[in-house]
Amino acid sequence: MPYMPELNHPEPKLRIESLHKSFKIGGKRESVLAGVDLAVGPGEFVSIIGPSGCGKSTLLNIIAGLDQPDSGSVSLNGGDGGPDQPRLGRVGYMQQKDLLLPWRTVLDNTILGLELNGVSRRQARIRALELTESFGLSGFEDLYPYALSGGMRQRAAFLRTMLLGHEIILLDEPFGALDALTRIEMQEWLLNLWDSMNSTIVLITHDVDEAILMSDRVYVLTSRPGKVKMILDVDLPRPRDFEAVTSPPFTSLKARLLAALREEKGKVGADTWP
Ligand SMILES: Nc1ncnc2c1ncn2[C@@H]1O[C@H](COP(=O)(O)OP(=O)(O)O)[C@@H](O)[C@H]1O
Ligand SMILES: [Mg+2]
Repeated sequence: MPYMPELNHPEPKLRIESLHKSFKIGGKRESVLAGVDLAVGPGEFVSIIGPSGCGKSTLLNIIAGLDQPDSGSVSLNGGDGGPDQPRLGRVGYMQQKDLLLPWRTVLDNTILGLELNGVSRRQARIRALELTESFGLSGFEDLYPYALSGGMRQRAAFLRTMLLGHEIILLDEPFGALDALTRIEMQEWLLNLWDSMNSTIVLITHDVDEAILMSDRVYVLTSRPGKVKMILDVDLPRPRDFEAVTSPPFTSLKARLLAALREEKGKVGADTWP
């Protein structure tokens, strides 16, 4: 296992070893993940970046327990990683297209997952209302999604995710559809939330600045089949804000990240980049 220095952590929150997954693509079985190793310590913020189609969303689906690997293991909190280890409910997962239901109010959207898990509507509302303030949604609970800005809709989807369990939070390109300014505001907001909630976050992103700005460590995946190509330790001081992106240490990390991504760009299996 060439790239696992972070496994030195005494008790990783999440540990993935030698994960393989294939799908039938166009009638042919194709490898999508070809031996992914990664580990995330408690309270860490880790990003994953890689060409389209390299298996990033598949990886999160497997971590969340929505899909099974062909081989390899995923363990939470030092569990044995066996297939029966329950992950649903402990892992908060915001999928790539995690949309709010237009016919439910903001509050009722945020409690959707809890309700599906058998929590009563009344209890679920009480739990959601405790958090609307820190999610910048207080006063907007009874509105319908169309009346909200893109950033607020995204925060409502975040709240729905966090209510389902936040031992570890998986975010699949959460800011991809937002305009540049809203995106920066959301990045700063998420960093504050992460800090105040002591969460452990795994973020998939296409955005090199975002990956460096947010993370303790960035994993670069190869084009399909995805495996870890490079691990970038981001040893920039915190708290960070968007101003950090112009500092010399930041730009040198960015150059290394871009060089690794460029190497993958033209390879067979890379659909597009970004
Ligand atoms: N359920 C599935 N059945 C068949 N192919 C799939 C399935 N899910 C993903 N794929 C394929 O696996 C590859 C990786 O997909 P995905 O994990 O979504 O990539 P990424 O998120 O990195 O863009 C793609 O070629 C995709 O078409
Ligand atoms: Mg994806």
